Amino acid sequence: MMIDQGTVDRVVETSQAQIVDVVSEFVTLRKRGINYLGNCPFHNEKTPSFTVSPHKGIYKCFGCGKGGNAVNFLMDVEQISFIEAIKQLGKKFHIHIEEVELSPEQKQVKNDRESMMAVSGFAQKYFTNQLLKSDEGRSVGLSYLRSRGFRDDIIQKFDLGYSPEAKSALTDEALKNSFKLEFLEKTGLSIVRDNYKADRFRGRVIFPIHSISGKPTAFGGRILKNDKKTAKYLNSPESEIYHKSRILYGIYHAKTEITKKDRCYLVEGYTDVISFHQAGITNVVASSGTALTVDQIRLVARFTPNITIIYDGDPAGIKASLRGIDLVLEQGMNVKVMLLPEGEDPDSFSKSRNAEELHAYIEKHEGDFIKFKTGLLLKDAENDPVKRAGLLQDIVKTISVIPDAIVRGEYVKECSALLNVREQVLYNEIGKLTKKSKEEQYKSKAPSNDIPIEIQEQMAAASFAPQSLYEEEEKELIRFIIKYADLNLVSVEEGEEEVEKMTVGDYILMQLNEDELEFENPLYNKIFKLYQENKDNQGFQAVKFFVSNMDKSVNQLATDLLSREHALSKIHERFGATDLEENTRLDILVPKVVNELKLKKVKALIEKYRKDLKVAEQAKDGDKMMEIMQTMVTLQQLQALLSKELGNRAIV
Ligand code: CTP
Ligand code: MN
Repeated sequence: MMIDQGTVDRVVETSQAQIVDVVSEFVTLRKRGINYLGNCPFHNEKTPSFTVSPHKGIYKCFGCGKGGNAVNFLMDVEQISFIEAIKQLGKKFHIHIEEVELSPEQKQVKNDRESMMAVSGFAQKYFTNQLLKSDEGRSVGLSYLRSRGFRDDIIQKFDLGYSPEAKSALTDEALKNSFKLEFLEKTGLSIVRDNYKADRFRGRVIFPIHSISGKPTAFGGRILKNDKKTAKYLNSPESEIYHKSRILYGIYHAKTEITKKDRCYLVEGYTDVISFHQAGITNVVASSGTALTVDQIRLVARFTPNITIIYDGDPAGIKASLRGIDLVLEQGMNVKVMLLPEGEDPDSFSKSRNAEELHAYIEKHEGDFIKFKTGLLLKDAENDPVKRAGLLQDIVKTISVIPDAIVRGEYVKECSALLNVREQVLYNEIGKLTKKSKEEQYKSKAPSNDIPIEIQEQMAAASFAPQSLYEEEEKELIRFIIKYADLNLVSVEEGEEEVEKMTVGDYILMQLNEDELEFENPLYNKIFKLYQENKDNQGFQAVKFFVSNMDKSVNQLATDLLSREHALSKIHERFGATDLEENTRLDILVPKVVNELKLKKVKALIEKYRKDLKVAEQAKDGDKMMEIMQTMVTLQQLQALLSKELGNRAIV
């Protein structure tokens, strides 16, 4: 561990208490009763089922099942390690992180991602410094950016930089600052051959690509001259910290405004994004050279369901727009399109306009995809029935990818009016298409022939296997352990009498161990064992321990059980308890559930012996019968005892 435990605890506690704040950086949350609700960042959804409970310090998506505490959330959403998450949260909440001196081995273990993030951060500062402070950077890089009309405040806002001409200026400087060549190479900042190392971006202006939380993870470098032979942009290669299909350029700088405006503009390039910002429009991102991907659309979906695609009006731009439309619609989002006059891109176009004029222009010219496609194709299709039919097919195909039937209906209406076709005709066509695609899906999901049929049948049967007979009671006990293990079962001392204090956890432990009982559900058993092994550790708190447990199945279950607001179990109802008063009645509830479990087990045993007895009877095995009957008597006594205790139990 590189950070001392006390600091980790403090960070976990603080971020748990501030979970709404933590999550809000990534998801737009709205207050719903005592909880907050938003669109889940981990799966695509239109109706929000992602819930944050500030009270419990946890989040839970009822759509995809993901859940955990604030640290889990950050780890998942940013794809970072535990340590990295703690560091980020520490920074956010101004908690000084005490780093314990690293041993050489620990240094080695320090994971690649962190090292890559660190060297990227270093490179960004280096490039920016070169651009703004060095003679070469100022006279070559800065003057280029200024000549393109970029203001200094915007240049700084986007951390633009300059990579010097010298062969390995950055690489040398990074090595001097004890960054390893390995990570310079892995991030693509340096190109390394046997005895050769060089900077990838030398002689270029630099556009850092920021992660959602604003960290530079990759770079785009533009040449300064208009040299047709060299690629205009060089970009960082894919790496562990940079997946170009999953990030959008500008998302960090845009996300707040996207939420506020409830719309995201999608443009093509780095300079388009920056120019929009300069013009005062900041809800804008770019897919930067890659064809738009589903992951990129989902990234936008975290902040808004509304996208306007703004591309160049050239054939490439049109083609990209058409592709983008279907992708966005498939994700259940709303898409508008605006093509710029030929020869213009958003960069050039926004230079001559202020924010107001730009907004006005966009509002006037953006249109839904039907208008867009029709406008595009109707010109030459108008008097040509074959072409007209082709256009219709095309539009119908796009409508058919929309998941929501009501939205589809709206577009059918519009298409019908615009192209003068009866709605029913359109529905028929859509019907054909969706049927076809279902068949395709089915084909692709058909069981492979590799698995023998008997095994397949067994697998199918297994997934329908009945739960353990004791599932309900076991689950309840595990919930007690997770939620209340540290509380005292008997919290009031009655009069002069010394009442022994015992925690809920210890009580359950004692009761089950006494009779050598285990949980039949393997996950519950794991949790039970974990509790047993860790309960005496210093500072152990059950809720914290389980909710932030490294084992996913454990922390998910813990979150599930804790976030069960109203779904009280049958056992609960039987005892007439509500969640609110539950913790004041633990002295009754916990022993009851323990006894219920034991009683069920005893009853099952009696049942088993009854059958054995019949067998022995038929076999005329007198000794065996005697033996069984003796055991049954003991069990029946036990059953009576447990039933009685359950009937009139008041206190342990
Ligand atoms: N792009 C790239 N590699 C290239 C060309 C383009 O990665 N060789 C990407 C860049 O992310 C660029 C985007 O595609 O921002 C759009 O390309 P283009 O419109 O040609 O570039 P602009 O951003 O307009 O750049 P500039 O205005 O400087 O020409
Ligand atoms: Mn451009």
